[in-house]
Amino acid sequence: MAGPLDDRPAPGRAALEALTGGAPYLDFSNLSVGYGRAEIVHGLDLALGRGQSLCFIGPNGAGKSTVLHGLFGFADILGGTVRLDGRDVTRLPSSRKLAEAGIAYVLQDNSVFPDLTVEENLLMGGYLLPAAAARAAMERALARYDRLAKRRRERAGVLSGGERRLLEIARALVMEPAVLLIDEPSIGLEPRYIDLVFEVLADLRAKDGKTIVMVEQNAKKGLEFADIGYVLVAGRLALAGRGSDLLADPRVGRLFLGG
Ligand SMILES: Nc1ncnc2c1ncn2[C@@H]1O[C@H](COP(=O)(O)OP(=O)(O)OP(=O)(O)O)[C@@H](O)[C@H]1O
Ligand SMILES: [Mg+2]
Repeated sequence: MAGPLDDRPAPGRAALEALTGGAPYLDFSNLSVGYGRAEIVHGLDLALGRGQSLCFIGPNGAGKSTVLHGLFGFADILGGTVRLDGRDVTRLPSSRKLAEAGIAYVLQDNSVFPDLTVEENLLMGGYLLPAAAARAAMERALARYDRLAKRRRERAGVLSGGERRLLEIARALVMEPAVLLIDEPSIGLEPRYIDLVFEVLADLRAKDGKTIVMVEQNAKKGLEFADIGYVLVAGRLALAGRGSDLLADPRVGRLFLGG
């Protein structure tokens, strides 16, 4: 499937930095990630400016989720470095990434606790905080998302798919992260909820200046949203460009946009 992109040289460091419009805020250098000894992502470079968003696209099994796993501390970093705002965060465990480095992660798989209420799910997002601070953060999240506030005492299991995704995002925001990692925000959602989720993300970027790294199977939606798009093929960077440029790139169209 990915033949036409296979034997191209990876975009170089200078080309990646040119996309950030300034000094990189999130910066990977020669990052290799895997599980145990199995290396899945090979020598990936990445540069992303503060408040920018980046979307990974690529075929199933390319290693897109593994990049996010490595960044958050769920997979093993086998080589290279990750810097955030100039600080080396490569080896920080997940809890410290969340509490100190301000990196939060919304997983690919449905991750709400169905038997807990909306409120309780939000409180879980603040498990690293003192109880009073977690409650205050929960109230802030509910004040921001009326759809959740209306159902705050209901079990999360009875929410619609779109509302559950919103709850997952709101829960990640409880820690007030600077960087939001989000894997497949549109997966399994009806079109109107896909639009809702992307509106929520656009609002977080515009109003809160969040830096967002996403993986999106829906390449059109992801690249329309993202400032920067990276195409990952077999664990390597095959193409990088502005989201809008990649959308217009015939190779991307043929492979990922069904055109
Ligand atoms: N926990 C794990 N332990 C071992 N191998 C894993 C683990 N998770 C993923 N892999 C392997 O890593 C490779 C890349 O998987 P990954 O989930 O990163 O791909 P992806 O690009 O996100 O694919 P998809 O589009 O299907 O979500 C696959 O070969 C997969 O089998
Ligand atoms: Mg994945």
